[in-house]
Amino acid sequence: MRLVRLESEDDFDGWRIAARTLAGEGVLPSEIVWQVGEQAFDLFASEAGDIGAGSPVATAPLRVSRQFLELARDASLHSEPERFSLLYILLLRLLDQPQALQDAADPLVRRIEGLARNVRRDSHKMHAFVRFRELAEDGGTRFVAWFEPEHHILRANAQFFVDRFTNMRWSILTPRGSLHWDGVALAEGPPATRADAPGDDPVEAVWKAYYSAIFNPARVMPRAMLKEMPRKYWKNMPETALVPQLIAGARKRELAMMEQAANMPSPRQGAPGHAAVQGPEALELLAEEAAACRRCPLWKPATRTVFGEGPHDAEIMIVGEQPGDQEDLAGRVFVGPAGAVFDRAMAEAGIDRKRSYVTNAVKHFKFEPRGKRRIHARPNSGEIEACRWWVDQERAIVRPRLVIAMGATAARSLTGRAVTVGQERGRAITLPDGTPCWITVHPSYLLRLPSEADADAEFTRYVDDLRKAAQSLASAAEGV
Ligand code: URA
Repeated sequence: MRLVRLESEDDFDGWRIAARTLAGEGVLPSEIVWQVGEQAFDLFASEAGDIGAGSPVATAPLRVSRQFLELARDASLHSEPERFSLLYILLLRLLDQPQALQDAADPLVRRIEGLARNVRRDSHKMHAFVRFRELAEDGGTRFVAWFEPEHHILRANAQFFVDRFTNMRWSILTPRGSLHWDGVALAEGPPATRADAPGDDPVEAVWKAYYSAIFNPARVMPRAMLKEMPRKYWKNMPETALVPQLIAGARKRELAMMEQAANMPSPRQGAPGHAAVQGPEALELLAEEAAACRRCPLWKPATRTVFGEGPHDAEIMIVGEQPGDQEDLAGRVFVGPAGAVFDRAMAEAGIDRKRSYVTNAVKHFKFEPRGKRRIHARPNSGEIEACRWWVDQERAIVRPRLVIAMGATAARSLTGRAVTVGQERGRAITLPDGTPCWITVHPSYLLRLPSEADADAEFTRYVDDLRKAAQSLASAAEGV
């Protein structure tokens, strides 16, 4: 049996050196015990059969893909005790079958990808939800934060905070260890308890300054700040009130930053760094959070939150009013009678619904019970405003090139003001973040028209509006 003692829970480099040596010798996974020791680094101390007498054995490098190394580095930070062993099994498999990582159905690959995903998500949360409190100490001020990571991510994320708070003295205390920055050097300390952290209100000014001045929408991922923020972090967040404005301006700032960073491909060009924080996972997280939304009383009588649907990188986002009776039951947008009109119009306008992101300004069904029936009731401005929180985040994640507001509620949600659809339909207005927004009628308006002739004529106008909006996108792409 080989005992590999790793220096710490996040000792990926130790695992890597040991794994390389062991794999080079053909040692089976079942013959290795991976142990995270308290003691000083003692790589191959073993009860029976040392392979390195306390130091890495130089062996020929084994070739594995960068993809595996990145995956393994992330997964190694998971709190799953078996992670080092699982990674070693996968390593051996890859040495035999270099393509094995591409087999997304393989249970081991899936398991390790899941570990890595959890770790990345935990890091995103740490970036977004660490909240500092100000403490007076000898020689100045120290900002102290309490955070409870689920995985061993503390050291891996230290540089993030050093970069962002270089000029402050700060400490991040966690049950897994602590980090202390004095403006020059980073020190690590022992695990802490919540009682060690100051309990006063967070320092709003610091956080607001941080989010306004340093907020980098391409990196900080609004989804993480907002959606991803599970309820347990909310109490620590003084700046949540600021976030919607930040997001509203995010796209402009991001474009400016992208211009500055000439070598940085845009997310639409597939920048890998963006994929990690901007992808479908972000929408999933957002939808999960919205499922528990209590921002206004509409959640109570409704069956469920009906969240938006569509690709995370859709070019067109279409916003309706609120789920109807059928949507409320099915949990999906535009699947009832208005949805049928919408589908027909989209097809006639040449817009592929599957490639669009379709959502509503209000995510819960508002109705008045009448006997056994539930009669649609219009959301009021407070409800629209409350739900705008989610629409803003959907936009921040999807970053559509074009938004279509169907009806006055959607238009109000997107523009922040009362809109008369008849006056503003059929042309683009520019939202504060620069996104063009086209306004048209809501499909259920067409269902309410008493005469068939009117309904036909209005349907044609509705299709024209949609078509013109979509064509504006094509024209913009052609530089027309
Ligand atoms: N009306 C809407 O605005 N949205 C739906 O999802 C269904 C009907």
